[in-house]
Amino acid sequence: MVMKHILGIVASRRVVGNSEILAKAAMEATGSDNQMEMIRLPELDIRPCRACYSCLPADVPCHIEDDLNFLLDKIRAADAVVLAAPVYFLGPHSSIKILQDRFLSVGNKYQDFAGKPCINIVSYGVADWEGYAQEVLNITAKFLNLHLVDSARFLGANPGEVLEDPENLARVRQMGRNLVDPNYQRRVKATECPVCWSEILRYDGKDITCPFCGTKGELKVEGQEVKYIFYPEPKHRFSDEGKRHHFDEFLNSKKQEFIAKKNHYKELQAPYRSLDWWVKP
Ligand SMILES: Cc1cc2nc3c(=O)[nH]c(=O)nc-3n(C[C@H](O)[C@H](O)[C@H](O)COP(=O)(O)O)c2cc1C
Repeated sequence: MVMKHILGIVASRRVVGNSEILAKAAMEATGSDNQMEMIRLPELDIRPCRACYSCLPADVPCHIEDDLNFLLDKIRAADAVVLAAPVYFLGPHSSIKILQDRFLSVGNKYQDFAGKPCINIVSYGVADWEGYAQEVLNITAKFLNLHLVDSARFLGANPGEVLEDPENLARVRQMGRNLVDPNYQRRVKATECPVCWSEILRYDGKDITCPFCGTKGELKVEGQEVKYIFYPEPKHRFSDEGKRHHFDEFLNSKKQEFIAKKNHYKELQAPYRSLDWWVKP
């Protein structure tokens, strides 16, 4: 078997915590000959996006000098990625959101990461408190154009607790094997979005919409059962066409509009610019 370079990204500060254990177990299961590398995401210096939009041309990197490019280069160099994060207050650890906010500089270079396999692991400590973290991890992979192979969440509060249930170890090891199996195809559940696997959907009284990828559908009542019927949308937000539309066309046209209407916006801002109520620590 050809040796692969597996990158584990762990979005928890807890040393040998549940996310780290699950990530390592999945990585180990990809094959003992593989080359392993791990990054503890909250230890990287990744600063908040400044919304300067200077990274929008495809050949211009983000101007902030921090560890973002180190991370992106590591992902580029990897054959496969394991992304693991705990649930904090119903969402993923904040390091995931800070990273995602910097994806303006990646959105128009989405071909860089195209098709690289990725699995997502979420650890959470309280039954029914899993929140929306798994959805956010899944769209993190989708915004990077990684090929999301598998995704699951695991219950365990204390560090190591996740191993008390042997099914967790079996499941995460299977995820590791799936990561390096080019023939593996996860079966989409009837209760999730077929594009980004979100289990969270919006219903406006008529249609259902996945708030993450924008895929739409309807509810169909069959006897005692309510079924989701999704309308296939090949140009969804995470398709090549969807990404090109948003990152190349929409954002660039907004930037041009800003340049053309700068003085007009300044006039709109003026009454609020003068209200200088800011305080600092
Ligand atoms: C600040 C904080 C907030 C948390 N919020 C939640 C939560 O909303 N839902 C939940 O199920 N678990 C929550 N937990 C528990 C963690 O998700 C759980 O312990 C997880 O296994 C930690 O993973 P780690 O060991 O990799 O850090 C929280 C833990 C901390 C420290």
